[in-house]
Amino acid sequence: MKPRVVSGLRPTGKVHLGHLVGALRNWAVLQDAYECFYFAADWHALTSDYADTSGLVGYAYENIADWIAAGLDPERSTIFIQSMVPEHAELYLLLSMVVPTPWLERVPTYKEQIEQLSTKDLSTIGFLGYPLLQTADVIIYDANYVPVGEDQVPHLELSREVVRRFNNFYGDLFVEPQPLLTKFPRLPGLDNRKMSKSYDNSIDLSDDAETVRKKVMQMYTDPKRIRADIPGTVEGNPVFVYHDAFNANVEEVEDLKTRYRAGTVGDVEVKKKLARAINEVLEPMRERRAALLSHPGRIREIVGDGSAKARAIAAETMARVREAVRLKY
Ligand code: TRP
Repeated sequence: MKPRVVSGLRPTGKVHLGHLVGALRNWAVLQDAYECFYFAADWHALTSDYADTSGLVGYAYENIADWIAAGLDPERSTIFIQSMVPEHAELYLLLSMVVPTPWLERVPTYKEQIEQLSTKDLSTIGFLGYPLLQTADVIIYDANYVPVGEDQVPHLELSREVVRRFNNFYGDLFVEPQPLLTKFPRLPGLDNRKMSKSYDNSIDLSDDAETVRKKVMQMYTDPKRIRADIPGTVEGNPVFVYHDAFNANVEEVEDLKTRYRAGTVGDVEVKKKLARAINEVLEPMRERRAALLSHPGRIREIVGDGSAKARAIAAETMARVREAVRLKY
């Protein structure tokens, strides 16, 4: 039997190149060697976006279409929506009985996010419980591995502590999940700030070729370089970070870097080649998405089937947990 992998993304907006590099490419590769469960974490989206829930369902379906366009295969992976498997919430509730609140208060993302997202009131039970819900998402499938970025490592440390404590009370019920770190460093936004919906600084997988071209031509580069004959810095320059991530023509990238450092190439050439490279990556995805969306109801069917499959497993786990907690009537 293959080891199990579970991971999720929050449907808070469109899927962008950051998701592709930071998660989806890796998720697609893992499908060969692991039994994979991938889901839209709509309840997690609610932990910060509870005030306006109007976009949630639309984003969840659209995001999943993008995941499949990017290479997830619903025949091999179980693709589902978190709230369509309500057993996650039941497990979260039972876990919450034994987990001390200071464990959650000291998760580094907790205070950080409250400060950063100061326009939202995050002093809620739901937001405090974010990593505990994430724990339930993972352990309900006995997942061995969770592909995530560096920022999520503390959540998995918490998950393992929670598993040990719960197992201690009720018997050997759950597996301790380990992170599978995604190697590529975080993709910067087009303006070199953190890529974020609120900065409007991403290229989305669903952008058409012309939009991609326009966005790339406006990208931030080396600000010292006010003329093409001034030597430029390649390291950490978003244009080259993107070339490394998306341009399969390694020789072309090396040539551009050499000439950029020497001050013998203009930004326009670097950017035109980048736009072309990104569009070459996105074009097959556009085709797959169009094919998928040309069958009305197909996405709903995939999500419905995936959620039913996930739910059958989650229900078995919960039957076992209720019995261990002696909640069997
Ligand atoms: N916290 C994750 C993120 O922000 C999303 C997530 C929710 C998740 N539940 C999960 C990731 C379970 C992995 C496993 O990206």
